[in-house]
Order: sequence, then structure tokens, then C-alpha cells
Amino acid sequence: MFDLSQKVALVAGGAGYLGLPVCRGLAEQGAAVMVADVNRAGLDKAAARVRAALPRARVDACFLDVASEDSCRQAVAQTASGLGGLHILVNLTTQSAGRRVEDIAEAEFDRALHANVYGALALARAAADAMAPGPFPNPAVQASDPAFIERLAGQVPLGRIGRPEECAGAVAFLASDDASYITGQTLAVNGGWTAW
Ligand SMILES: NC(=O)c1ccc[n+]([C@@H]2O[C@H](COP(=O)([O-])OP(=O)(O)OC[C@H]3O[C@@H](n4cnc5c(N)ncnc54)[C@H](O)[C@@H]3O)[C@@H](O)[C@H]2O)c1
Repeated sequence: MFDLSQKVALVAGGAGYLGLPVCRGLAEQGAAVMVADVNRAGLDKAAARVRAALPRARVDACFLDVASEDSCRQAVAQTASGLGGLHILVNLTTQSAGRRVEDIAEAEFDRALHANVYGALALARAAADAMAPGPFPNPAVQASDPAFIERLAGQVPLGRIGRPEECAGAVAFLASDDASYITGQTLAVNGGWTAW
């Protein structure tokens, strides 16, 4: 589809629900991929899954905490030295406090805010284009509240929630030379959610 064979990608949040299929999608188009995440166990599993699906792909894994500038620098350096450069930077991290608003401790809120806002800044200094996902509730959310999922799907012009692998093509396109005169754009992958 898109030729990424000369490119090296670092995917922050690569062990996540959307991060893993994006890593796989970039590798499918020929990119060497560094799967980077704060979740060490998930990280190794994600890299192993991409390698199992694409045995010839160049896939590596590294710890990354986007809330730490040092960690961002280390991950970038590890990618550049291990995979021979860095051309594509994808940030699919998110850190939630994981509780009801009334139960969130101030320190937890600060940590999540710092990781989400500062992490985006630390990684995004050189970023150009963005892919904005719409409704992609993960399997745990889907299983916990089917009525919510049905209502959600009903709000989407395409009539369904997204499959995580449906984010991959948009990221591969934006990262490819086919998008060479596209910059500063946000490509919505949301089943038409914002098209009403
Ligand atoms: N899934 C959706 O419906 C949806 C909708 C709109 C936007 N998004 C955005 O897309 C991105 C990916 O969403 P997702 O559903 O895959 O989330 P996810 O929770 O499945 O994945 C997020 C990943 O980020 C990692 N992470 C958290 N804190 C980190 C840190 N400090 N440093 C490095 N890695 C860290 C987690 O370990 C996890 O692997 C997020 O930015 C999210 O806000 C998702």
C-alpha cells in the first residue's frame, strides 16, 4: 500500500489497544518499528505478536515513560542506534487515573495530567500530522456494557464502533511519502462521527 521500507518508526503506547495494530500496520508497510511503552510486560508481548505475524519485519521493544524527558531521549536514542534512524513518531499513549472523578486523589490526577499533556509535548516537538481516533472501546469496555456500545454505535454514521486495526492505514499513510505535501493536519478515523 504505502512504501515505508526505508523508514524507522517509534510507536509510544505501542502495547495499547490501538498501538499494537498501528505497530503491525507500519511493519506491514515495511517500516522498522520500535514498540515503546511504560508497560514492560505488555511491551514484550506486543513486539512478540508483531514478530509472530510478520516474521521478516524489524521489530524491537523499549521501555518508555513519556512523562519523563530523559526516558523520551533514551527511547529515541535506542531507536536510532538499534534500528538505524527515526523517521516516524507516533504517540498513542494515554494514562487515566482509572477511577470515578470523586475518588481520584490529587497526586493521581497530577500524574495522569502530566503524562498526557507533558508527554504529548515531549514527544511531539517534531510532529506534523495527527490521526484522531473516534469510538474504539476496548474489549473490556465492550463486554462490561453492551447497551452502551449499542447506543454508541447508533451515534456513528457507519453504524458501528471501530476495529483497532482500522487506525493503522491512516497512520501508515500520514507517515509515507504519499503524504509528502500534507502537514499540520488531523485525519479523523471515526466512522463519520464528526460528519453529522
Ligand atoms: N480507544 C478509543 O476509543 C480512543 C478514542 C479517542 C482517542 N483515543 C486515544 O488514542 C490513544 C490510544 O488509545 P488506546 O485505546 O489504545 O489506549 P490504551 O490504554 O489501550 O493504550 C495506551 C497505552 O499507553 C501506555 N502508556 C500509558 N502511560 C504511558 C507513559 N507515561 N509512557 C508510555 N506509555 C504509556 C499504556 O501502557 C498503554 O499501553 C490514546 O491517546 C487515546 O486517548 C482512543
